[in-house]
Amino acid sequence: MSILRGKKVLLGVTAGIAAYKSATLVRAFIKAGASVQVVMTEKAKDFVTPLTLSTLSKNPVHSSFTKEEDDNAVWTNHVELGLWADLMVIAPATANTLSKMSNGTCDNLLLATYLSAKCPVYFAPAMDLDMYIHPSSKESFEKLTSYGNIMIEATSGELASGLVGQGRMAEPEDIVRFIETQMQEKLPLRGKRVVITAGPTYEAIDPVRFIGNHSSGTMGAELAYRAAELGASVDLILGPSALKVEHDLITVHSVVSGDDMYEAVHQVYEQCDIAIASAAVADYKPSHVADEKIKKNDDTFTIHLVKTKDILASMGEKKQGQFLVGFALETQNEQENALKKLKKKNLDAIVLNSLRDKGAGFKTKTNKITFIDKDGSPTSYDLKSKKEVAVDIFDQILIKTT
Ligand code: CTP
Repeated sequence: MSILRGKKVLLGVTAGIAAYKSATLVRAFIKAGASVQVVMTEKAKDFVTPLTLSTLSKNPVHSSFTKEEDDNAVWTNHVELGLWADLMVIAPATANTLSKMSNGTCDNLLLATYLSAKCPVYFAPAMDLDMYIHPSSKESFEKLTSYGNIMIEATSGELASGLVGQGRMAEPEDIVRFIETQMQEKLPLRGKRVVITAGPTYEAIDPVRFIGNHSSGTMGAELAYRAAELGASVDLILGPSALKVEHDLITVHSVVSGDDMYEAVHQVYEQCDIAIASAAVADYKPSHVADEKIKKNDDTFTIHLVKTKDILASMGEKKQGQFLVGFALETQNEQENALKKLKKKNLDAIVLNSLRDKGAGFKTKTNKITFIDKDGSPTSYDLKSKKEVAVDIFDQILIKTT
């Protein structure tokens, strides 16, 4: 799965012959799962039509500060466009545009958008070989790089002039690959291992019955996706769940009982950097599992239960530098009880769900949490989707671990 999946790419197209390749570039970004908007200079339209690029990007192409709508001039908001983007890619970037970018000139929509963009900006120069090595071009490259923009070097080959040398815009597939590699290298959890427990456990009574709970595993799955998005390799220890978790960086270990979960966790815990226990592990299990289906012979029936192993507590005991996060579901004296749990289980942080909050806990798509660190300092969040909650939890973990 490409790291560009779900990302918003703003493609700036300027007036070089390589602009014809921007159509392929749009397609390559879309194929990687990104959404694309195109901003182009007026002159670039001589090389590739806005219709081609709007059809491929499935979005209108922007090129002027105003457009006509119902006989009214409507302003194209370059600030909004710049803020929309997760990354801006100027390809092809001509010597003229690069010089203007490096000097803060703002005489077209593309340049205004560039100056407004807060996201990473990549530029792929395309020009003739002598232009490419001219001191003024070199100065533009250096200035832009010093601003934090990222240059995708031109390649060597036959140029539009017929001359052979460096100046050809990098091929669209190579541009996409370059950006993917660059983005991956910058991920804050790259090279880290994360273990997450999730879902319910089923404790067998007999071959057909069990003690379980309503946990869907969604919160844990979202945490796993977020960790992977941040570049970590993830071991997701997942109790019985209908969820399909698929990601190149996530290994799913499907388990059934608390004992299975305990075993699976300790196969991977020692090597991990961060562990989060979001599973709703049954606290008790039948002391004896019947070999055959139990018949309803009597009017009453009692199952003798014994405590399950506390997986999180065992992780706390064996901790050797891992950042360990637990969950607490409380109904009264929430923060006080959560903090007690944090201390008792030797955690670094605990995520508190209060059952008093509507929309929090099991079987919902949302959650409302308070993140409490070792010192007992709480950060409370609004009711959000579990996906957004996972982002908040990892934002906190990153603050504490980096
Ligand atoms: N947990 C665990 N193994 C268990 C029980 C709980 O790993 N056998 C983990 C959960 O995944 C969660 C945390 O411990 O991260 C808190 O679980 P919770 O059931 O709320 O707390 P308990 O410690 O079991 O205490 P109590 O039920 O008495 O509130």
